[in-house]
Amino acid sequence: MDYQFLLVTKEPAGFAVLQFNRPDVLNALNMRLMEELVDALEQLDRDDEVRCMILTGNEKAFAAGADIKEMADASAVDMLIRDQFARWDRIRKIKKPIIAAVSGFALGGGCELMMTCDIVIASESAKIGQPEINIGVMPGAGGTQRLTRAVGKVKAMEMVLTGKTISAQEGLQWGLVNKVVPVEYCLQEAKDLAREIASKPPVAVRLAKEAVLKSFDTTMEGGLEFERKNFYLLFASDDQKEGMEAFVQKRKPDWKGK
Ligand code: CAA
Repeated sequence: MDYQFLLVTKEPAGFAVLQFNRPDVLNALNMRLMEELVDALEQLDRDDEVRCMILTGNEKAFAAGADIKEMADASAVDMLIRDQFARWDRIRKIKKPIIAAVSGFALGGGCELMMTCDIVIASESAKIGQPEINIGVMPGAGGTQRLTRAVGKVKAMEMVLTGKTISAQEGLQWGLVNKVVPVEYCLQEAKDLAREIASKPPVAVRLAKEAVLKSFDTTMEGGLEFERKNFYLLFASDDQKEGMEAFVQKRKPDWKGK
């Protein structure tokens, strides 16, 4: 995979690392980078050798938001026709787990991208926020919705209306971040987690992720029904037979991914 603004590495342990590569502009997410990201994620989602993906930036920035210079002169109609955030919906459709390894700035679209990921490992250096209000706009790629669901109304209001940036520790306390580690261990921690997820039965991982995400879009009753159907569906997989047999025989399961 050869991209201009994205470095993609497949690791033998069954996961891939996607690193944003626009360091001069703190990994600002221009349309080209987002197109490359979505393309890479969709290809890796179809790749049997990959069972989990990691999104990361560099020590200074995960991503400092959508590219302001690219949007500055646009009219409302330009924005409507570009519909650049429609691409972001495709990230939500990725079936395999995505881990964000976040150091430095995760602002605006960077924070929104982080929240689209399934698990977040943050460095002590992470600075997380939705500062769009300071440039005359508001979050446009899910910030008002995902942030509110993650941290609750009053904290989301504070962040969105003041543009206040929070630390990794606050992110941890507020439910935006799974774990905070020193910056030099951030990617390694994400890789350890990716390796662990890649070692699990992939069909169960896929249906479990789908069911957790469903909880954002449905009632409790609808979600419980969805969960139950996915649970029953797993009994059609070889891995369910293998997992339960291995438990009974007190041995390690040998997953086939089917
Ligand atoms: N878009 C385009 N360029 C950006 C950028 C962005 N979001 N963020 C930083 N850059 C560029 C700067 O323009 C600068 O480029 P030049 O060297 O060519 O001037 C370079 O990156 C380094 O930035 P700074 O000199 O500003 O670095 P700093 O350390 O002094 O400040 C910062 C860092 C606080 C993150 C500051 O750059 C900043 O406030 N950036 C903008 C953050 C922001 O508002 N993000 C939201 C964007 S809108 C959005 O994301 C909408 C949405 O919902 C999807």
